[in-house]
Amino acid sequence: MIICFTGTGNSLQVARMLADALGDAIEMIPPAPGLTPPAGERLIWVFPVYSWGVPPVVLRQMKAMADAAFAGREHYCVMTCGDDAGLTDSMWRRAIQRRGGADMGIWSVQMPNTYVLMKGFDTDPDDVARRKLEHAPGRVAEIAKRIAARGRETDVVAGGWAWVKTRIIYPWFVRFAMSPRPFHPNEGCVGCRKCAESCPLGNITMTAAGTPAWGRDCALCLRCYHVCPRHAVAYGKATSGKGQYLNPIFRRRHSS
Ligand SMILES: Cc1cc2nc3c(=O)[nH]c(=O)nc-3n(C[C@H](O)[C@H](O)[C@H](O)COP(=O)(O)O)c2cc1C
Repeated sequence: MIICFTGTGNSLQVARMLADALGDAIEMIPPAPGLTPPAGERLIWVFPVYSWGVPPVVLRQMKAMADAAFAGREHYCVMTCGDDAGLTDSMWRRAIQRRGGADMGIWSVQMPNTYVLMKGFDTDPDDVARRKLEHAPGRVAEIAKRIAARGRETDVVAGGWAWVKTRIIYPWFVRFAMSPRPFHPNEGCVGCRKCAESCPLGNITMTAAGTPAWGRDCALCLRCYHVCPRHAVAYGKATSGKGQYLNPIFRRRHSS
């Protein structure tokens, strides 16, 4: 079984390629209540890297699952990242080990960047995004072969300053930079509800005035920002002049 979280579709695209190659079913986070992976079946975690670590929404999913989902079971991980993953691999391994699971191979796949909430961070230029999307199927096909062969390797682009990024910046980011409070509609909002309808956690409601309001349960996946056809979802002032990106599998789904 593949357990997948995605904001803008990159990780879901990777999950679908793995599912096609390996025959495993995909369960999205959040799953339907009572998710129980069939006994003995491997679990493949697929998610985006957030601030050089495992997204809190994924850690929360791990906590919510029964011991039977871990004990004695093989777990694999395929994470997508815009550039590099720091020590996300060791964070994931520790989380699986702590629950008694067998941590097997872990791989990263570079995909177009989606983080735009700080100075200096933006979506990729079109040619860079296109190159990453073209390269992904070959990389995922190789990873699928390694999973089928029960590989245990760590094959991740860690990047420079990996320890600092994961051990110092990640905890800071989770504590101080993941609040949904700065989200607001700007003057371009026409109340089309796309942001509310697409939020994977159902965290956005429409006010009586016909504009979106964000609740507290936010993964900071930025689907609401990237899906807006009028660039009318703002995060404080950080998103002014920034790009938008949706994986092609979501562009079709959210374009009507
Ligand atoms: C909150 C947040 C933090 C991110 N942090 C990183 C990071 O530390 N390193 C990186 O290479 N990409 C980072 N990214 C980019 C995503 O990991 C990458 O674009 C991923 O493929 C998005 O997957 P998705 O489309 O499944 O959401 C971040 C994106 C978001 C939204």
